[in-house]
Amino acid sequence: MSKVTVVDHPLVQHKLTLLRDKNRSTAGFRRLIKEVALFLGYEVTRDLELTMEHIETPICGMDAPKLKGKKLVLASILRAGEGMLEGLVELMPSARIAHIGLYRDPETLKPVQYYFKAPSDIADRPVIVVDPMLATGNSVAHAITLLKEAGAKDIRFLCLLAAPEGVEALAQKHPDVAIFTAAIDSHLNDHGYIVPGLGDAGDRMFGTK
Ligand code: URA
Repeated sequence: MSKVTVVDHPLVQHKLTLLRDKNRSTAGFRRLIKEVALFLGYEVTRDLELTMEHIETPICGMDAPKLKGKKLVLASILRAGEGMLEGLVELMPSARIAHIGLYRDPETLKPVQYYFKAPSDIADRPVIVVDPMLATGNSVAHAITLLKEAGAKDIRFLCLLAAPEGVEALAQKHPDVAIFTAAIDSHLNDHGYIVPGLGDAGDRMFGTK
């Protein structure tokens, strides 16, 4: 079973409530998504390994901690992943970026890949997959399968909101992937929306409703 972390920091919970409000403007929604991503970014990177490096401060030499190994990869699931990506890149400006484009086949309802680009040495880097809404879990699970096929080994998934159905499905398909979210809501409705949720994250972020 995947480890699931609900980030219950008061500022995250406050900003999530502002995001849920249907009267929030596009500009406000965008700003808040980015801000929450910064907070979630602290939690999802909490267990990254450190190594000691000798440096000289203006006063003296010292052994000080630095992140070990290669820079991590932020993998954004298009298109809603882009809003959170912005905040995460601010936190980790040297991160490498992967993009995964998926759409749902209207007949089979299965996710179909239309774009995939990731660093060729992804096997040597920790990967944080980003998508604000974990609903059925189908597209996230498929994106993670594609990343594993490309060589990724150390993967965690970061979202803003999750449905219990999505958590269950993702944990079944990829039990090795830890899940980080600001909240787990009640359920999915018949249209695949998270209840109470915040609506269509992509539409609200890009003003395309
Ligand atoms: N995607 C969204 O943007 N919102 C949901 O509630 C579910 C999936």
